[in-house]
Amino acid sequence: MKTRAAEAQWTPDRVRSRVAELGKWFHNINLKGVQTAPDHFLGDYPAFKWRTFEKSIPADLHGRTVLDVGCNAGFYSLEMKKRGADLVVAIDYDDEYLAQARFAAEVNGVEIDFRRMSVYEVGKLGRKFDLVLFMGVAYHLRHPLLALDLLHEYAVGDMFVFQSLLRGSPVADRVDPDYPFSETAVFDREGYPRLHFVEERYANDPTNWWIPNLACAEAMLRSSGFAILDHPEQEVFVCKRVETSDWARRASAELLRSLKGTSR
Ligand SMILES: C[S@@+](CC[C@H](N)C(=O)[O-])C[C@H]1O[C@@H](n2cnc3c(N)ncnc32)[C@H](O)[C@@H]1O
Repeated sequence: MKTRAAEAQWTPDRVRSRVAELGKWFHNINLKGVQTAPDHFLGDYPAFKWRTFEKSIPADLHGRTVLDVGCNAGFYSLEMKKRGADLVVAIDYDDEYLAQARFAAEVNGVEIDFRRMSVYEVGKLGRKFDLVLFMGVAYHLRHPLLALDLLHEYAVGDMFVFQSLLRGSPVADRVDPDYPFSETAVFDREGYPRLHFVEERYANDPTNWWIPNLACAEAMLRSSGFAILDHPEQEVFVCKRVETSDWARRASAELLRSLKGTSR
């Protein structure tokens, strides 16, 4: 009721001026006819991206819980609520984006639990979610595998939707489970998993750190315990949580244990 009353007070004129006050928007969201980022460099973002994979997500989310990691202004969180999700928790480490997200939810009259939190702190949430969205965040991290391991350990109960900027070969070669030490040519194959390190910046953005090719995105997901069920769009992977291999588990177990106190 509280949310409905708050929604009603937002006329298009009031929305327009509040949108301007909330700074530069990365998400173009339609709020009572007002577009929040009409001149986005990618076009109508992320609506055009959403249209490419929305059919891969359950149309009815009643009875399910969702975590949106790196929610920005909450475009995907709002879509999850439109599908009836019982609970949407949305985290981002940026206060300005969170203020935009809270406003967008208020204007839409929906309740979303927004929290200022880094992906490295997901253990603090103290629960798992049926569906976790991890869209457009991994390449902004200095430690992307750590984030995937933490999400696997503490947050993902079942479905995991991952999106990453990709660069390099769009072909994913089949890689054998092992090669002799003398084998070197395989590393030069175009479709070998490769993670490109950005030392300074890419696209004028110093928060871009590691950009995988397609083979690497797939391999990192598999290695972190996410089986790829669907690949509806070049950058988007719909996954199911499975157990990680013994080797992957052992490799990160100590680090996850040592972080437990800080992330839970
Ligand atoms: C490219 S935007 C993607 C936003 C949205 N998920 C989407 O796909 O449209 C990256 C978002 O991740 C957030 N972010 C970056 N590093 C983060 C971290 N360590 N923890 C939580 N959020 C982070 C940024 O503040 C930003 O909102």
